[in-house]
Amino acid sequence: AQRKPIVAGNWKMNGSVELVSQVCDEVKKYSNSNVDVIIFPPALLLSEVLSENVEAGTQTISEFDSGAFTGEIHAQLAKQLGAKYTLVGHSERRSIFKESDQQVADKFAKAQEFGLIPILCVGETESEREAGKTEQVVAKQIKAVISKLGIAALNDSVIAYEPVWAIGTGKTASPEQAQAVHKFIRDMLIAYDEQVANALRILYGGSVNEKNSELLFAQADIDGGLIGGASLKKDAFASICKSAV
Ligand code: G3H
Repeated sequence: AQRKPIVAGNWKMNGSVELVSQVCDEVKKYSNSNVDVIIFPPALLLSEVLSENVEAGTQTISEFDSGAFTGEIHAQLAKQLGAKYTLVGHSERRSIFKESDQQVADKFAKAQEFGLIPILCVGETESEREAGKTEQVVAKQIKAVISKLGIAALNDSVIAYEPVWAIGTGKTASPEQAQAVHKFIRDMLIAYDEQVANALRILYGGSVNEKNSELLFAQADIDGGLIGGASLKKDAFASICKSAV
């Protein structure tokens, strides 16, 4: 493949100190020059994962600099601890915590300012898909970042396409459905800058498991996955990592 795949495990608010060592023991076998394996544990477990020599990132970061923002995650401190990535705009952040496209763009900018690679999560809800608005929604979410920072900002970033209806539901997008949206995203970005678009890794997320990952990852514009539930099971996650190589 022209792009190195990423398999990212988003633990959401799950996991434990014990699970870190169990999963990391398995994962270390697969993180190599052919695939980047990254774990996004709850922020409190970031150092635990990093001490296992596995790449890690935060699930969100604050769009602010240090100051009176009780409870927030500071990008600069995450970077100091050794994080390399952060998710921004995960659908749960957008829906439960009411993050707007603008706020997500601000977080994306703050991540890059402090040297973290943002993984920008985008995706439509079920009703948006049924209304034929998938492309419109995804384009708007990505353009919020481009209009703030310019297309070059996507050089040091990753996009994760996660249809909201497929997250945690067991309803995976078919490889064809997912590929169609990934291709739409890449084509849209080619119109801005072909080189940036062709180098950008676009991950698929939404009920990826050890049975469907291989076919999804085999699609031309799918460069790996953002895995929720299955990333909490060491054997399933290891098989998914293997299928990306
Ligand atoms: O960030 C991960 C996604 O929300 C996917 O979660 O694999 O449990 O559907 P899931």
